[in-house]
Amino acid sequence: MAQLLGLDIGYGFVKATNGENGYVFPSVVGDASEKQIYYSTIQQTDPLGNLRVRIDDRVFFVGKSAIRHSNLAFRALSTTRSEGTHMRVLSLSAVALFCDRSQNKFEVVTGLPPGRMHLAKYMVDQVKGIHRIGVYQNGTARDAEVDISSVEVVPQPLGTYWSQTLSGSEPAAEHLEGRTGVIDIGYVTTDLAAIEDGEFVPGRSTTIKVGLADAYVDIASRLFREYGLEREPYTLDGAVIKGKVTVSGEEVDITPICNGAFERLATKVLVELMSVWRIQEFDRLYLSGGGGQSLSPYLLPHVPQGKLADDPITANCRGFWAWGKRQRQTEI
Ligand SMILES: Nc1ncnc2c1ncn2[C@@H]1O[C@H](COP(=O)(O)OP(=O)(O)OP(=O)(O)O)[C@@H](O)[C@H]1O
Ligand SMILES: [Mg+2]
Repeated sequence: MAQLLGLDIGYGFVKATNGENGYVFPSVVGDASEKQIYYSTIQQTDPLGNLRVRIDDRVFFVGKSAIRHSNLAFRALSTTRSEGTHMRVLSLSAVALFCDRSQNKFEVVTGLPPGRMHLAKYMVDQVKGIHRIGVYQNGTARDAEVDISSVEVVPQPLGTYWSQTLSGSEPAAEHLEGRTGVIDIGYVTTDLAAIEDGEFVPGRSTTIKVGLADAYVDIASRLFREYGLEREPYTLDGAVIKGKVTVSGEEVDITPICNGAFERLATKVLVELMSVWRIQEFDRLYLSGGGGQSLSPYLLPHVPQGKLADDPITANCRGFWAWGKRQRQTEI
């Protein structure tokens, strides 16, 4: 039987789960075809730290290894997502992490921002079908044939809604009545989804171009001004999550800089949110995404019916998986 995968390809991070295991890696791709890598240790055991894959006869660094090795690593910040093979490389790399036999069959549930659902067919075309993928470990490629027999594309924030409501095989009835909103604050975009009596309402759902990347630009410019540190915003994740950077070998606490940036961004998100939704019309609002986690202390005091989703970074992909599983059960 095909493995069911929930796959959330964000502008900042790829999140994937098969219901048992899950992976998160940065949505960064770099060209690896010309590179010789010299390992300083014998074993390279961290699959996420050393992800290198061959797709369509090209070799790519993906995730952390792309940030480390590629001068030309990029996070595709263009929100049209039509650039080259980026989405295909990220999706197939995530699927490759779940390959355990030489023949691998998968069914994928994935998402797009509500404002980008017109790209659904493009996404299906990029991912569906049979692919020969090489996954590198310690310098040698292990070949796998990957058969992705179905790809369902849904509005991304619905993943959070399903992860909150579909526990086990029955929906939690109390969540199906009234109006629910999901505010999914990601790296580049904030996705808003409205659900009424269990049904997604496209007309009230949209994508706003505000995300944690705005705070990262703010943090990077303050780090430069205060400490002379030059950092590309896309390399800042680890430092922001730990709240520290190293300056000439000394650790510096950057939480005040990060908190200031998050507070300013939260104000911006609230202004945008109020211009799109009358939030008092919602019975419950779930905050989700990495930005939901970071901004919740500043947003929740303004949103009385608001709640931070459980494990907000992986909520969408876990919900996609739960939705796929539920559909399988109802088909039987
Ligand atoms: N443990 C953590 N604590 C706080 N923030 C985190 C943590 N892990 C990741 N993040 C931050 O979350 C952000 C990514 O959030 P998320 O994965 O929701 O974005 P995305 O889905 O990739 O973006 P988009 O929705 O715009 O496509 C990153 O900027 C990262 O720094
Ligand atoms: Mg997201």
